Amino acid sequence: MAKAIQHTELGGPEVLTLADVPDPVPGPGEVAIRVEAAGVNPVEWKLRTGLRPTPPITEPRRVGSDGAGHITAVGADVDGFRVGDPVAFTGAQGAYATDVVAPADHVFARPAGVTAAQGAALGIPIGTAYQALRSLGVRADDTLLVHGGSGAVGQAVIQFAVLAGARVIATTSDARADRVRGLGAKPVAYGPGLVDRVRALAPHGPTVILDAVGTDEALHASLELLDDRTRIATLVQGAKADALGIRAFSGGSPRPLTPQQEAWRLEAVPVALALLAAGRFSVEIGEALPLAEAPQAHRLVEEGANGKVLLIP
Ligand SMILES: NC(=O)c1ccc[n+]([C@@H]2O[C@H](COP(=O)([O-])OP(=O)(O)OC[C@H]3O[C@@H](n4cnc5c(N)ncnc54)[C@H](OP(=O)(O)O)[C@@H]3O)[C@@H](O)[C@H]2O)c1
Repeated sequence: MAKAIQHTELGGPEVLTLADVPDPVPGPGEVAIRVEAAGVNPVEWKLRTGLRPTPPITEPRRVGSDGAGHITAVGADVDGFRVGDPVAFTGAQGAYATDVVAPADHVFARPAGVTAAQGAALGIPIGTAYQALRSLGVRADDTLLVHGGSGAVGQAVIQFAVLAGARVIATTSDARADRVRGLGAKPVAYGPGLVDRVRALAPHGPTVILDAVGTDEALHASLELLDDRTRIATLVQGAKADALGIRAFSGGSPRPLTPQQEAWRLEAVPVALALLAAGRFSVEIGEALPLAEAPQAHRLVEEGANGKVLLIP
């Protein structure tokens, strides 16, 4: 039997329970993976509480999208994978588990030197960062302001934007300023006076802004700092974006991602794996907890823990 975290009602972290589930069998186009680490993302506690709406729960609902491990079975019509291959994956239905099935096109070979922990930290944050920068057309002559630069998404945004040649200013707490600086961004403290501090660093203002925090302060500062609202996007306050005339990528937006945007989110994972293997990319790993401690993992993420929180089956 495999084991998986699931829940049968919305609610606090305690609704997450560890259950015995049948060993997953890959169908056509799928692979089965023994999970060595699963990444915990903010959206997962938001879905658990109902903050992000979902259809009614009619059967136990599995949790988690991102992880890494090795292939244990290969379904029909799948080329390129063999049992035992180390992989990273995203978009699985229930990555908080000992074993999971995933579509083969959401699974990527994990190069030597990239740990399961690093692989599990990629999917949602790295995909979102890469897609948002591609959608906003961030280029070498841009000055990008990213709100939430020390978070999982923000750190990826900084690194992809720096690789594209852009100048990056990132909001952060004082305690996390060194991390942001080390990735190549100029840190700026969030809080009262943010607009003035950004203007002191970039007198002509940012040319593109990405909100990976969703506070009113981040939205107001963005509107004050940049007139061209087509170059402001939020990843968190999607429901407010249309009224403000800015862009949104998921994060509560009524507009689904386009097929191109979905494709960029997937493309990001092998891009990041290759950069990690080459020592040109960094993911910050936080606490690693046993699978059964998924409730505590959700508490940590909701409280704003530093680094990617992982579950280890
Ligand atoms: N739209 C999408 O598809 C999508 C995808 C992924 C994530 N998201 C959302 O994007 C957000 C960030 O995700 P994540 O995985 O990067 O989370 P994370 O790793 O927990 O990072 C959260 C960040 O928020 C910062 N922060 C906390 N309070 C703040 C405040 N008052 N003002 C400014 N910054 C503040 C933290 O900075 P300090 O630690 O320095 O305080 C930290 O860098 C979450 O809301 C998540 O749900 C959306």
